[in-house]
Amino acid sequence: MTNDIKHLVGKNELSEHFKSVRKYSLSLISALSAEDCQLQAMADVSPSKWHLAHTSWFFETFLLCIHSRNYKVFNPEFKILFNSYYNGIGEQFKRGNRGSLSRPSLDDVIAYRRYIDEAVISVLNTAITPEIEQIITLGLNHEQQHQELMLMDIKYNFSINPIFPAYQSLKPTQVPNQQSSAAIKFINFDQAIINIGSNAENQFAYDNEQPKHSVLVHPFSFANRLVTNAEYLGFINSSGYSNPQHWLSDGWAHIQANNLTQPLYWHYINGEWFEFTHYGLLPLNLAAPVCHVSYYEASAYASFVNARLPTEFEWEYAAQQHAPSNTAHTSLLLPNMADSSAAIGQLTDSCWQWTNSAYLPYPGFKPIAGVAGEYNGKFMSNQMVLRGGCVLTPANHLRTTYRNFYYPHQAWMCSGIRLAKDKT
Ligand code: AVJ
Ligand code: FE
Repeated sequence: MTNDIKHLVGKNELSEHFKSVRKYSLSLISALSAEDCQLQAMADVSPSKWHLAHTSWFFETFLLCIHSRNYKVFNPEFKILFNSYYNGIGEQFKRGNRGSLSRPSLDDVIAYRRYIDEAVISVLNTAITPEIEQIITLGLNHEQQHQELMLMDIKYNFSINPIFPAYQSLKPTQVPNQQSSAAIKFINFDQAIINIGSNAENQFAYDNEQPKHSVLVHPFSFANRLVTNAEYLGFINSSGYSNPQHWLSDGWAHIQANNLTQPLYWHYINGEWFEFTHYGLLPLNLAAPVCHVSYYEASAYASFVNARLPTEFEWEYAAQQHAPSNTAHTSLLLPNMADSSAAIGQLTDSCWQWTNSAYLPYPGFKPIAGVAGEYNGKFMSNQMVLRGGCVLTPANHLRTTYRNFYYPHQAWMCSGIRLAKDKT
């Protein structure tokens, strides 16, 4: 069994896909100024300008420098500036200081993108090998991950500004309904030996989703929708953040050390709850899924309601049985509300869902060959798996086997809560 990225689409299709993915990244900054694109409000986030450059650097480093004869590097200094974490490539500029780089300018970065676009397209116009096709496919999936990161990071960068800037304006027709949903239903699943993961035969999959293997899941039940803001507020109002009872030890230490009393982006102003969004500060929508909670918060809430988080295998099993529809992806940058017609809803189109599975290699895991093998595998310690997808994820980027991962204290991604229970 190999875990190479398989030959997946025709060349013209790949060319068109390349152009549209690259264009979408640039469209994300169309309403931003150069100053906006420079912001880095904490070490975990990056400036939009850096994302636009790094995704181009990825094609330059892993495709053009290796597979394009006579390719001339755009600027040799970018090798260090836009290397995120690849030790096999060499030194990296300090992650937390990316926002201090005023040069290259945004215009220079956009020129860099154009240069890389032309070079990749001219590669695509030659007879390409399956290996080249695989690297371009990886580069496009990489760019899509950074599109979501750009939207996450812009939100965080704006959130620390007391004038609460809006990334976009919310049209009156886009205001989500605030109708509360029926109580969570728990759907039962019998014990089973199930297939987990992918061999990337018919569809791209990252190395961390491979190889496909069987896993025993015990009888469990799985919530038909995500936990709402109203439900989470019930935890807050029951002294959830001032009582260690439901918290993991590391979680309790984390909320104590950081004086946390509510999810990231929540604000209590003159007796009312608000939430910072891509549309600026909005009244907290009580019916919407709770979003931007850490693993610690998700775990504490689950304990509070006598439930637990699902394992990543339970999540994948549930998603196999209730094929997620991606149709609900809209241009609205707010998590999708529960759909009462779905047996199990909000799988991929609302918020990522924390699982209680540690991010670990599957049996037989092999990182992709070469330096790009640093992409996923070297992060397999101390992080937790999130499953699904969120409203910020490009819709054609996801699949049932997809594994996202973050540290348990992090909350700036669009992360929500799916409950599960042991079935007795
Ligand atoms: C899977 C979202 C945790 O942000 O480092 C971007 C995605 N990998 N470039 C990350 C990623 C390489 C990754 N996450
Ligand atoms: Fe990256």
